Amino acid sequence: MKFFADTADIADIKDLAETGLIDGVTTNPSLIHKSGRDFIEVTKEICGIVDGPVSAEVVALDHETMMKEADKLRKIADNVCIKVPLTLDGLKTCRALTDDGTMVNVTLCFSANQALLAAKAGATFVSPFVGRHDDNGFDGMKLIDDIRLIYDNYDFDTEILVASVRHATHVLEAAKIGADVMTAPPKVIRGLVNHVLTDKGIEGFLKDWQSTGQSIL
Ligand code: E4P
Repeated sequence: MKFFADTADIADIKDLAETGLIDGVTTNPSLIHKSGRDFIEVTKEICGIVDGPVSAEVVALDHETMMKEADKLRKIADNVCIKVPLTLDGLKTCRALTDDGTMVNVTLCFSANQALLAAKAGATFVSPFVGRHDDNGFDGMKLIDDIRLIYDNYDFDTEILVASVRHATHVLEAAKIGADVMTAPPKVIRGLVNHVLTDKGIEGFLKDWQSTGQSIL
């Protein structure tokens, strides 16, 4: 399962990239706003830190303007992945861009039928938002399960990118279902390493080691 960092925070991205655990980055207009940085500049900087796909989202709602925005964004770097919303104009843009060899992430997916459309439009990634789905009384993981089934039924190449991940259980369930990618805030990614028995184990081993009076170096 690939891990993408869901952030536009350069310090966080650099720190996570050094662990070798992240395979890409996703941003959205809200994360760009939070970063306080210029969209093009910060996207360029992120693309220089990670080798994998870096999602940059268009903000236009019509196909023609989406294409113009995408054209500007895809010139930033070879690893830019254009993010389009799951609308008819977004899907039309997705088809035009993927036919032209550009990676596309179809975002704001909340139903399996929407995911089916994204695959038919040739999306590189589809982003079902599990956290927002849960927040609104639906079962985010059931959505991932349904999309996995449909994509496997028809052998679609579109990768399921589980988004709006809020906690470790989302990551675990997505991995069990066989989602291709998950994107999560840096805090959630770092939190996956935590286990109280790991901490207790280290404490016990260090205590006994100190009693030996030895040193490795
Ligand atoms: C994904 O690409 C989105 O940027 C993100 O996962 C949205 O998450 P949120 O629901 O926490 O805003």
